[in-house]
Amino acid sequence: MVPKRKRTQHPVPESGEDYDEDSDSSYNETSRLDATKKSRKTRQPAHGTRKKNHDDDSPTVANSISSHAVSIHVITAVEPMRVALLEWYDSVHDARKMPWRKKFDPSLDVEGRAQRAYEVWVSEIMLQQTQVVTVIPYYNKWMAKFPTIKDLAASDIETVNSLWKGLGYYSRAARLLSGAQKTVNELQGRLPDNAKDMQAKIPGVGRYSAGAICSIAYNHCVPVLDGNVHRLLSRFTALHALPKSKQTLDILWTGAESFIEQSKRPGDINQALIELGSTVCTVRDPVCSHCPLRLWCKAYERTQPKPDIEELCLVCEPIPSDEDDGSVTIYPMKAERKKVREELDSVNVIEWRSKNGGDRWFLLVRRPEGGLLAGLHEFPTASNLSSGKASESNVAQIPYTLLKELLMHPPHPSHSESQRLAKPTNVEPSYQVPKIAHVKPAGDVVHVFSHIKKTYRVQWVLLESEGDEPPRFRSTVSPDQIARKNGNRARKSKGKQRRLEEGSEVSEVEVNATPKTSGAQWVPLAQVEGVNISTGVLKVWKLVKKLWIITQ
Ligand code: ADE
Repeated sequence: MVPKRKRTQHPVPESGEDYDEDSDSSYNETSRLDATKKSRKTRQPAHGTRKKNHDDDSPTVANSISSHAVSIHVITAVEPMRVALLEWYDSVHDARKMPWRKKFDPSLDVEGRAQRAYEVWVSEIMLQQTQVVTVIPYYNKWMAKFPTIKDLAASDIETVNSLWKGLGYYSRAARLLSGAQKTVNELQGRLPDNAKDMQAKIPGVGRYSAGAICSIAYNHCVPVLDGNVHRLLSRFTALHALPKSKQTLDILWTGAESFIEQSKRPGDINQALIELGSTVCTVRDPVCSHCPLRLWCKAYERTQPKPDIEELCLVCEPIPSDEDDGSVTIYPMKAERKKVREELDSVNVIEWRSKNGGDRWFLLVRRPEGGLLAGLHEFPTASNLSSGKASESNVAQIPYTLLKELLMHPPHPSHSESQRLAKPTNVEPSYQVPKIAHVKPAGDVVHVFSHIKKTYRVQWVLLESEGDEPPRFRSTVSPDQIARKNGNRARKSKGKQRRLEEGSEVSEVEVNATPKTSGAQWVPLAQVEGVNISTGVLKVWKLVKKLWIITQ
């Protein structure tokens, strides 16, 4: 029967009879580390990443920088981990019936401990590259033939090889023989009682084997790192780095050391780590649910939904990825921006010229005392036109509506300049809408208030000159009353264009017109900019002035 070899127990060549290194030597071998360093340097950046400039010290690529602190790979606060690990080990340590596995006996004398070291040494050398189940009968035969290191030292290579037959890697048998002979000839028949000497003096014993033998046989706090523990600790610390690089091995050896440091049972902890790696934290199908270390395992943590659904925070909103620049400024959450309302207003710069053509007057009205731009003056405006009312022909009709509400026609022959501001009267005289010479579109002014984006569609309305004075104002109501009235009317006729006076001289478009007469005034050209007008209205005024440059 061909004995079963372990697949990846040690990161060393798995096949070939010329295996002549201790398993752990691969962790120290400098030539391999150099190769690792080289391969790392020549690694290509990930897809879609920027090439590194030679003199550029910045990280090669943003997404090659890991998103965790290096401390994730450092094992601290081990006590609860050790307790859990040993509890598990105590429950399984006999399960595979390993004849070399015995409880550490503190009552043993030097000879007794040296004997234990011999047994563990033989088992560890046999277990390199070979499964436990395969090793057990070979170990038993070996111990029957060579119960002590002196028996082995007195043997020869033929006998040793015959006992090794079928186990493979025969150099291991030869090394056991030469190690035994050296021990008997040079070390008073006792294997060294410390890991340093064990590694230095016994052929084929590297850092791993020295750690295993000395921790198990002498209860010394020295770590082990074979393929099983390497894999287990890589997962435990979520270390995703080149497995044989010096950095990786340093981190993992340090991790292994953390487990046994100042422990009362270092041999058991080391065997527990090996056992856990080979039976639970296996290469392909790890059984995390059986792992005593899963609570602290960083790799396991990544697989878990976080946190439990009942613990989920219902207060915080998810952070939109486009806002998450990794800085603290993502807090506090940005208040939800009110959607900016868009409105279209028809603004009418209405001009009256005296018949002799010398004086130019412009109609300004005062806004209601409350609300947007309260109390400021503006050109007569029909605000918030619905899309139905915003057509070119409709907008061109708006001045007629506005004028009808504002002015008397013909102008009162006797009213003086001081009377131009409308004064309340009880009598509403009959009137005719003044004639309009032209309505010329001047373009749009966009003006943004906190929540309204206003588009002022501006037109210049020139009245026909009649008389020497601008037309009188007709209404007796205040701007606020008119605003209210307009509001009601707009509500009643919602979105509906209506002819108010069928067959009248002008067609009239019902609009939500701003305010009128008690605050209406004719202002001479030179004084318009001096009146209390908003920036938006000033922009309107400037737009109309530009129109004159073009048309005049
Ligand atoms: N493989 C290598 N050493 C071992 C040990 N001491 N126990 C179980 N499996 C091992």
